[in-house]
Amino acid sequence: MVRAIEWKNGRVVMLDQSRLPVEVEYIICADYLKVAEGIKKLWIRGAPAIGIAAAMGIALAAQDVKADSFDNFLNKLSPVFDTMLSTRPTAVNIKWAVERIKAFLNIHKDNSVAELKIMLIEEAQRILEEDIQVNKAIGTWGAQFIKDGDTILTHCNAGALATGGYGTATAPMLVAREQGKKFQVIADETRPVLQGARLTAWELMQEEIPVTLITDNTAGALMKKGAIDLAIVGTDRTALNGDVANKIGTYTVAVLCKEHKIPFYVAAPLSSIDFSMLSGDLIPIEERSPEEVTNVFGKCVIAPEGVKVCNLAFDVTPAKYVTAIITEKGAFKPEHIKELAKNNASLDKFRIKASK
Ligand code: MRU
Repeated sequence: MVRAIEWKNGRVVMLDQSRLPVEVEYIICADYLKVAEGIKKLWIRGAPAIGIAAAMGIALAAQDVKADSFDNFLNKLSPVFDTMLSTRPTAVNIKWAVERIKAFLNIHKDNSVAELKIMLIEEAQRILEEDIQVNKAIGTWGAQFIKDGDTILTHCNAGALATGGYGTATAPMLVAREQGKKFQVIADETRPVLQGARLTAWELMQEEIPVTLITDNTAGALMKKGAIDLAIVGTDRTALNGDVANKIGTYTVAVLCKEHKIPFYVAAPLSSIDFSMLSGDLIPIEERSPEEVTNVFGKCVIAPEGVKVCNLAFDVTPAKYVTAIITEKGAFKPEHIKELAKNNASLDKFRIKASK
């Protein structure tokens, strides 16, 4: 299984996803600013993976802090928290990771600063390992929706590269394969950064899962021909009402699915659900540089110089287009996602099952 990020010998090591699949290079981050740069420049990307990177960045920064008390330690980490939060606005996983680290520190405030430094490294590694387990659980709940012979459409990359490992949208595929089901995947190339072409196609080929790459514009035509059975995508932030923010173009896919009566599933670890955000309309949408659209990887210019560009990195799919949200606690209709916030012991009555 490919690993996007690791803590190794006191450093954060990330696979440079901006250069895949042409070059497989690792970047060694010796300080938290390098980690923040990596998140901004998409060396590491995908909501759970950037949450893990933020936690590791904080652990890295903590090693250099000189403090004689817990309060002093926390104060000195405060700008690090802010730096991580300022890297990318849409994925809630960065906020989730920062809040988890703050809560962790507060629980252990009686430990010495030297102990806390070590404990932060362990906590960041725990976040990564837990993410893999969460994804495996998503896979177990989600595999039921994949039938033998299915063709699955996916958008962007919500695979191992976007997470600690195993992926969210890819997890049901991996479990379905373990169950002996045969299926194929259609990967949207995902303009402009091409996560589908460069990352999803690469990952699935490594996993020996049959994959066909299409331009984003092709999905509708395939659906019209009856060539797609279901869609599974990831999410950067899902709101309490079940609205889903994900890579730009996801909304288009969801609307097309509705028109063609194709189930549209969202794989969402709880770390990607923002229970404090009432509606998807409130989710901040990252706008990235015009060059991502006017140039192909800084090499080839494909638009007139000076043209006005709109480069929204994400869109919001309203809950009404979502068939189910697959979490580590089960698959739910989007309107029932709020039940997960209530620590509801009787979640079973809200879980949805695939029709036979
Ligand atoms: O801009 P990116 O590559 O970070 O966007 C990633 C996505 O949109 C993914 O689908 C999402 O983060 C889910 S990853 C499990």
